[in-house]
Amino acid sequence: MKTIFLAGGAGYIGSHTAVELLNAGYEVVVADNYSNSSPEAIRRVEQITGKSVKLYEADIRDNAKLKEIFRENKIDAVIHFAGLKAVGESVKKPVMYYRNNIDTTLSLLEVMAEFDVRNIIFSSSATVYGESNPVPYLETMQRGVCTNPYGWTKAMMEQIFEDAAKADENLSVILLRYFNPIGAHPSGMIGEDPRGIPNNLMPYITQVAVGKRDHLTIFGKDYPTPDGTCMRDYIHVVDLAKGHVKAVDYILEHSGVEVFNLGTGRPYSVTEIVNAFEQVNGVPVPHEYGARREGDLPQFFANADKALKLLGWKTELSLEDMCRDSWNWQKKNPNGYRNSD
Ligand code: NAD
Ligand code: UD1
Repeated sequence: MKTIFLAGGAGYIGSHTAVELLNAGYEVVVADNYSNSSPEAIRRVEQITGKSVKLYEADIRDNAKLKEIFRENKIDAVIHFAGLKAVGESVKKPVMYYRNNIDTTLSLLEVMAEFDVRNIIFSSSATVYGESNPVPYLETMQRGVCTNPYGWTKAMMEQIFEDAAKADENLSVILLRYFNPIGAHPSGMIGEDPRGIPNNLMPYITQVAVGKRDHLTIFGKDYPTPDGTCMRDYIHVVDLAKGHVKAVDYILEHSGVEVFNLGTGRPYSVTEIVNAFEQVNGVPVPHEYGARREGDLPQFFANADKALKLLGWKTELSLEDMCRDSWNWQKKNPNGYRNSD
């Protein structure tokens, strides 16, 4: 049985990926420093799947600790989720973002080389397409000018992986560019658990719906889109997690560097999301229209043909599923994992 190491695997996307990897028959080892997560997520992954996960509390920048993990487990592939991801915070604390995100990547590459682990899949983002590429985004487009330090860390880490693979023909890399993950596992046992005021749209909507926040402000109504609000390619986190399983299957059989967009190819506007959420769940989401948020692009979405062609992956879940599952998680866990810590 193949063993997959999830760096930052207790987080939102990592925990959902752990479920799908276990369901597909892989062994899963997770390391996380819980800077934005809780070990409770992994306990619940074990409950959902009835399988166990080897869990380490560790900072991925700590080479000595990483070596201990690699010594104790025969790792076939790594998925690198570990990183800070709040765009606004990255503008205020750029050094912290560069230090954490780049150093986790360098440590992983160093320790992988030492232990002859040859496969790594990286959580990149659509943000690397920058400000001026036309939509839909295609993997063959150049990386663009990012709008914030978070985005630059992703672009830089992609470059680091490409350079490392160029220098070492034994190293295989898959860069996964996520679009906008929302939703939760249908059990409602794991989901997105932001700390403090959510930055992203769906957690904000669910916190308004559950009464934790007064109302949603929709950022801008004067964009060049059909209803004037921004459009994004929202993807159900379970579809995204299954994309990782396909990437693992692929990297174990192929060498080289590949980049894949993971998105649906179908954008929705902010107003469409709010309306769908209210309709599907029968709950009101009080909202008002406010000023644009700095750095937001009017619209972006994926061309996801390459993932279908090479990985045999495409999304299966609808906007209705995304809204229903996000609400199910929030209702069952109004304080996220906090009551279980
Ligand atoms: P998340 O914050 O829930 O998960 C990241 C995990 O990494 C957390 O559990 C955190 O505690 C851990 N972590 C951070 N720094 C660490 C360190 N130095 N050592 C050990 N653990 C560390 O975020 P997520 O939404 O699951 O995102 C996973 C990855 O995907 C991130 O790299 C993120 O930038 C990327 N990504 C996310 C989105 C999104 O919208 N959620 C979009 C594009 C890319
Ligand atoms: C942002 C980042 C992206 C990152 C992703 C997940 C940019 C350009 N992109 O994507 O790099 O990977 O977060 O962390 O910064 N909105 C509201 N009201 C709110 C919140 C959001 O109207 O309270 C709108 C936004 O203006 C946007 C849409 O909802 O149009 C989605 O926002 P969000 O969930 O933050 O994701 P992105 O900005 O697309």
